[in-house]
Amino acid sequence: MTQSLPNQLLVEHASGASRFVRACLRQPVDRTPVWFLRQAGRYMPEYMAVRKHHTLLEICRTPAVASEVTITAAERLGVDAAIIFADLLLPFTPMGLDFEFVAGEGPVVHTPIRTLEQVEALQTDRIDELSYVARSIELVAKHFAPPRADGDQLGIIGFCGAPFTLASYMIEGGSSRNYIEAKKMMYASGVAGTPDSKAWPLLMEKLVKVLIGFARQQVEAGADVIQIFDSWAGALSVEDYREFCLAPTTELVQSVQQMGVPVIYFGVDTASLLPAMRETGADVIGLDWRTPLAEGWKAVGPGCAVQGNLDPIALFAPEEVLKRRVAEVLQQAAGRPGHIFNLGHGIVPGTPVDNVIRVVEWVKELSQV
Ligand code: CP3
Repeated sequence: MTQSLPNQLLVEHASGASRFVRACLRQPVDRTPVWFLRQAGRYMPEYMAVRKHHTLLEICRTPAVASEVTITAAERLGVDAAIIFADLLLPFTPMGLDFEFVAGEGPVVHTPIRTLEQVEALQTDRIDELSYVARSIELVAKHFAPPRADGDQLGIIGFCGAPFTLASYMIEGGSSRNYIEAKKMMYASGVAGTPDSKAWPLLMEKLVKVLIGFARQQVEAGADVIQIFDSWAGALSVEDYREFCLAPTTELVQSVQQMGVPVIYFGVDTASLLPAMRETGADVIGLDWRTPLAEGWKAVGPGCAVQGNLDPIALFAPEEVLKRRVAEVLQQAAGRPGHIFNLGHGIVPGTPVDNVIRVVEWVKELSQV
C-alpha cells in the first residue's frame, strides 16, 4: 500500500499551523476540527441574499464576492476551515468546453465530449484564465491571517474535481444515472490498438495536467489543503476504478502533495472503493455516511486520516437525535489523531442553519481533550 509521502515540506507547514492541518497530517490536536461540505450554499440566507444579485458563475468569477461568501459562511458557523467558493466545473471553460448551470437541472454541457477528435481539441494551455480562484483565496487568506480568539489559525481549503468525476460531466453533458457514455469511452480504452482506445487515456492526461496547474495556483495563493472531489466515483466497480481511474488520480494527488500541502480525497458511495482510494497516497480520505466511521477508517488503514461522516439529512433530525449522531461519529473516531469532523456529503437546501451551528458547538464540546 502506498504510504503518504515523507514530505519535509508538509511537516514544516504543519508546525504551528491550524488544528485542521495538523489533523490532516495525523498530528495530535486539542480537539477535533470541524467544517462542512457545501457550508456556503443555498441553505444559508446570507448566501441567498448574494445569489439574488449574481449568478453562481458570477460569484465564482468575482474574487471580492466569492471571498465574502466563503468568509461569511465560515464565521457564521464557527468552523475550523473555510472552503473557497468555486465550482468543480470551472476548468471546463479554459479547456474550450462551454457549460451553464440550469435552474433545477444542475450543470449542462451543451456539446458533450464523445469522440477522440473532441478530446484532442480540448485545450490545456489556458489555465491562467482560472486565476480568479487564486485571487479569491488570497483575499480569504488575508482575512484569516490573524489567529482566532483561541489562538488557532483557520484552515483554507482549495479544491478541484477528480479526473473520473470531471470526465463524467464532460462526456455525459450533465448529471447522470448510469454513466453509459462515460463508461463506453472508458471501456473502449480496454481494447488496445483501436482509435477508440485512445480517447479515455488522453482525456485523463489532459484533465490531470489542467487540474495540477489549477491546484498549484490555489496553493501558491495560500490554500493550506487541497480537497479532490470524486463525487461520482461510487458509480464504479473496484476493478474499473483500478483499471481506468486509479493511475491518473494518483498522479494528481501526489503532484499536489509535492507542492507542500496535504490532500483530502473525497467520494460518495465508496465503501467498496476505500482501500483502492487509499492507494492514491492521499493524506485524508473523505467518508460518506453509509458506513460507520470506524469501519471506513479500518478499510483505509491506520496510516491515513479520515474526514466525515454525519448523514447531512441528520441535520433535519430533532436536537436529541442529532446530538446523539454527532456523539456517535466522535465515539467511532475514539480520539485517534487524524479525524476531521464533517458530513458524509454536502449540506442540502432547506437545512436549518441553527442545527449546523449546534453541531459545531457539540463537536467542540464533546471532543475536547
Ligand atoms: O461551501 C461550499 O462547499 C461551496 C463551494 C462549492 C460549490 N460547488 C458551489 C456550488 C463546492 C465545493 C462545489 C463542488 C462541486 N460542484 C461538486 C462536488 C461536491 C459534491 O457535492 O460532491 C459538484 C458535483 C459540483 C457540480 C455542481 N455544482 C452541481 C451538480 C451543482 C448543482 C447542484 C444543485 O443541487 O442544484 C452545482 C451548483 C452549485 N455549486 C451550487 C453551489 C452553492 C448550488 C447552486 C446555486 O447556488 O445556484
